[in-house]
Amino acid sequence: MQFVGEDLIYVGVDDKQIDLFEGMYSVPVGVTYNSYVIKDKKTAVMDTVDAAFEKEWLAKVEKALGGAQPDYLIVQHMEPDHSACVQAFVKKYPQVAVVGNKSTFVMLEEYFGKGIADNRVVVTDGEELSLGKHELKFVFAPMVHWPEVMFTYDKTLSLLFSADAFGRFGASDDNGNWTDEARRYYIGIVGKYGAQVKAVISKLAAYPLNIVAPLHGPVLSGEALNSAVQSYIKWSGYEPETEGTLVAYTSVYGHTKKAAELLAQLLKDGGEEVETVDLARDDWAECVAQAFRYSKLVIATTTYNADIFPAAREFIDRLVERNYQNRTVGLIENGTWAPVCAKQMRAKFEKCKNLTFAQTTVKIRSALNSESEAQIKALADELL
Ligand code: FEO
Repeated sequence: MQFVGEDLIYVGVDDKQIDLFEGMYSVPVGVTYNSYVIKDKKTAVMDTVDAAFEKEWLAKVEKALGGAQPDYLIVQHMEPDHSACVQAFVKKYPQVAVVGNKSTFVMLEEYFGKGIADNRVVVTDGEELSLGKHELKFVFAPMVHWPEVMFTYDKTLSLLFSADAFGRFGASDDNGNWTDEARRYYIGIVGKYGAQVKAVISKLAAYPLNIVAPLHGPVLSGEALNSAVQSYIKWSGYEPETEGTLVAYTSVYGHTKKAAELLAQLLKDGGEEVETVDLARDDWAECVAQAFRYSKLVIATTTYNADIFPAAREFIDRLVERNYQNRTVGLIENGTWAPVCAKQMRAKFEKCKNLTFAQTTVKIRSALNSESEAQIKALADELL
């Protein structure tokens, strides 16, 4: 068992068996559902875990409690990866008071029916709960990532239980760098709600933070915490992290790929940081996260059924849904008899704020020729 504080015990679990997180995100290195027990005069359990781990989690909590009865189950977030075991917990410990806000209990009854958690403490934003030595303060964080979300600030430890915020994909034995899988998680899941994340970051400025304990991924402190906060400031403000270009392509017979590679090479030759992704084959959430990472994006794709090739169309939809903005965008279209997708891509991006389109739009008829190569050179020059 991992201790994160003097009387704070980690009782989370690793999920390495899940195929798709939230039914859509691949998690090749798994994911954790974090939960904690605070032992004090009064004992509190912070959140539950996914239904698949009910037995394992209940056993861990029982061991952590060491024979004590829990006084409170604090429900910070009602998404079932954290709330699925509330009913089982209440059944096992019927005296426990469930702590949440008004919206928490509406959702709790939607999932489990009326009568769940009759013993409840309904808190308001900023309300405090004393466990003895540990003074907890609830900080509402609506839409980070659901409307009922609340963080819990432990004043004694200067520790923030941050719900999904500062979460990361990856099981507990994944030692990869924090930022890549945290970015893929944040942009994919919370990216649309930058304004709300920004608002809660401002609210947190009033609280000294030594430790952040999210519901997914590692507990953060020291330099790792400072760096995570800086990343969140950038991500929630839709600011690029890296000056450079993501070249995102689809290709049916290899000709559009050649165009994308030619552009990438010209940009690299000009000293640009460039990454190239295949939208039909690479992980879609990573492609989206990389688009947010870079300051410039070029999409190279084909016309298909008089529309945008599906993988590129979905990619743009996913960017637009997540409030993609403040970037430069270049377009390369290919088509054998009626290339029209550049116009359609541009129309899709119309909902986005503050996008600058490159003046050069490259039109390829089937395969590169000297004319389209010259256009790619012009696009590269413009981006550089
Ligand atoms: Fe990890 Fe929004 O649930």
